Amino acid sequence: MKIAIINGPNLNLLGKREKDIYGNQSFTDYLKELQHIFPNVELHYFQSNIEGELVDELQKAGYADFAGIVLNPAAYTHTSVAIGDAIAAINVPVVEVHISNVHAREEFRKLSHVSGKSAGSIFGLGLKGYELAIHWLIQHAQTK
Ligand code: DQA
Repeated sequence: MKIAIINGPNLNLLGKREKDIYGNQSFTDYLKELQHIFPNVELHYFQSNIEGELVDELQKAGYADFAGIVLNPAAYTHTSVAIGDAIAAINVPVVEVHISNVHAREEFRKLSHVSGKSAGSIFGLGLKGYELAIHWLIQHAQTK
């Protein structure tokens, strides 16, 4: 089974950026933990700081044999109609994940162009949110 993890802008700086909000761990380091937790799942990781590249990757994974996509569009969550449209354009289920609790922060972070198009959303649970999203996607694929 293949699951794609797609991270948006500035998430390449996890472990370095605003550690009080996003923690100390880099995503490449966390990815190793995830692969260990899910040894039978092929995790495909993609990160970009460029909106169109995220759209391209959603389209690619969305028309390939992926069981699901875990998506953290980061700041583009709050601005990108194109990313919302890309999710609507594919049939592979998408789980939106945010490390921080976007509803407990600035007002502009409460708007998501992604939530309404996703199977579900997880926010505020730190990096653990990615693990929970993968759990759900595996179960979802197995009950189809
Ligand atoms: C984020 C929340 C966004 O508002 C922010 O722009 C990010 C990260 C999160 O994972 O908590 O870059 O998506």
